Amino acid sequence: MMTSQSTIPATKGSFADGMRLPRTVKVRGLNHYFGDGELRKQALFNNHLEVRRGEIVIMTGPSGSGKTTLLTLIGTLRTVQEGSLNVLGNELLGASTDLIVRIRREMGFIFQAHNLFESLTAYQNVNMAAELLKIDPMIADGRIKSLLTRLGLGERIHYKPKSLSGGQKQRVAIARGLVHKPKLILADEPTAALDEKSGREVVTLFQELARDEGCTIIMVTHDNRILDVADRIVNMVDGYITSDVDVQEASVICEFLMEIPLFSDLNADSLSKIADQMMVHEAREGDRVIRQGDPGDLFYLIRSGSVDVIVDDGDQSTKVAELRQGQYFGEAALIHDEPRNASIVAREDSVFYALEKVDFRDVLEKSATFEQQLRQALFNRQ
Ligand SMILES: Nc1ncnc2c1ncn2[C@@H]1O[C@H](COP(=O)(O)OP(=O)(O)O)[C@@H](O)[C@H]1O
Ligand SMILES: [Mg+2]
Repeated sequence: MMTSQSTIPATKGSFADGMRLPRTVKVRGLNHYFGDGELRKQALFNNHLEVRRGEIVIMTGPSGSGKTTLLTLIGTLRTVQEGSLNVLGNELLGASTDLIVRIRREMGFIFQAHNLFESLTAYQNVNMAAELLKIDPMIADGRIKSLLTRLGLGERIHYKPKSLSGGQKQRVAIARGLVHKPKLILADEPTAALDEKSGREVVTLFQELARDEGCTIIMVTHDNRILDVADRIVNMVDGYITSDVDVQEASVICEFLMEIPLFSDLNADSLSKIADQMMVHEAREGDRVIRQGDPGDLFYLIRSGSVDVIVDDGDQSTKVAELRQGQYFGEAALIHDEPRNASIVAREDSVFYALEKVDFRDVLEKSATFEQQLRQALFNRQ
């Protein structure tokens, strides 16, 4: 049996805090259809998604996969037809017009077609949004100037769109979407028209808004130069969310795995794939995590806390081992396709990383050390 590791990195605050933060967006079983009768076509299929406050989510996927449809549903720019969609604490399915108007004020939209008024200056275009949202003119004035300056348009505040480049117009549209300090920003390809430097300026601004104002940002992009700002990457294909990876959590898991000899044989790529597949399970002191005799479908690695391994033999229960951070359990049933041969009970509040059977088998195939070590561990536990 392996020993507990002393060099395991401390869990980052944001990781633990993130579990308690309220959800800004919660999508459950969301379907969407375009057209009627014979022409009716389903664009979204049973989608689930949760976005926490202050998170930056990047949505990717091929053209026509449903990204804009999902974004406009979240933005109340389309009516929810089927499923549940909760935004900033409000259910949108069947929401009244009043409620929708109120929610919309809390959101900022940055869409591809920037639709600036040609007869208005950059300042006036942004100010128009501020007036519509009834923001105090003094406050709006300061905010407009600082946003436009921040976005590199300080010298062009009083230029009209015809004197601005495509990228500059796009940045005016970004300022317009942010002027009312929205709680949720929805952006469709916001950096597509920008060169690398201005694209970076825009995402840096997004990061500041997320960090300093708790603003949540959902952004569709194909721009892989800005993937590094994402807390979560959601991929869509043919109307389905095919993957949803919490980057921060995955990288914390990855760092943790790297310190554990069991995974030492795996390269960074395989490790990050495993980390992406791992689920976080929490148990309270005294919870039974595994019940002897149940079919085995998960492999567990102890992130924090400790557990007892208990074997029931007729009417007698014997504690056979105690496992701690960095140690694992649940592998025997997965390797031999047998029911669980022991029960696992949390000795204290604990956190585990769990891997499903298929993913666990995948690791087994990739790593000689992994299999060898597991077999050794099994042997030692007999
Ligand atoms: N207004 C619409 N009317 C009919 N079909 C639409 C409409 N908008 C999108 N669709 C269809 O829905 C699917 C998803 O589109 P969309 O959400 O725009 O994808 P993406 O933004 O990922 O490119 C596509 O098949 C598209 O043709
Ligand atoms: Mg689109």
